[in-house]
Amino acid sequence: MATFKLNGRSVSVTSPDDSPLLWVIRDEIGLKGTKFGCGVAQCGACTVHLDGKAIRSCVTPVAAVAGRSVTTIEALDSKGAHPLQTAWIEVQVPQCGYCQSGQIMQAASLLKTTPQPTDAQIDAAMNGNLCRCMAYPRIKKAIKLAATRMQGAKA
Ligand code: FES
Ligand code: FES
Repeated sequence: MATFKLNGRSVSVTSPDDSPLLWVIRDEIGLKGTKFGCGVAQCGACTVHLDGKAIRSCVTPVAAVAGRSVTTIEALDSKGAHPLQTAWIEVQVPQCGYCQSGQIMQAASLLKTTPQPTDAQIDAAMNGNLCRCMAYPRIKKAIKLAATRMQGAKA
């Protein structure tokens, strides 16, 4: 049994210690925004934040997050209006949408540490998040738009 913070609330789960966090989030807790793609840390569909940093939940045993803070796409912003989410809508990034929560969580982690990323920094940070619909140019455009807006909001 592990106890951790999920989206700001303390949760205690009964899944075995070695259960991937992804399945605990989806099946035991019932939050379906975090997706399964590959299960071996190769696609990024399962990206969540652990203590504010992007991780692959498919290869993170639930025991590893005990006492720590996990955030999923459902709580990136209480109103679903994080600057990345509004930029995503404006740029109409998704096609099938399957990879998108992972993309946004990865991008949110990038903007926390690098508020004004260069193209190269975006490419490096987003490199492990695959999109079979090839939405990459729109993903990059939306990240830049969100970064500009977030910078403007601080000024
Ligand atoms: S499902 Fe976790 S990286 Fe692909
Ligand atoms: S929008 Fe379809 S996989 Fe990315």
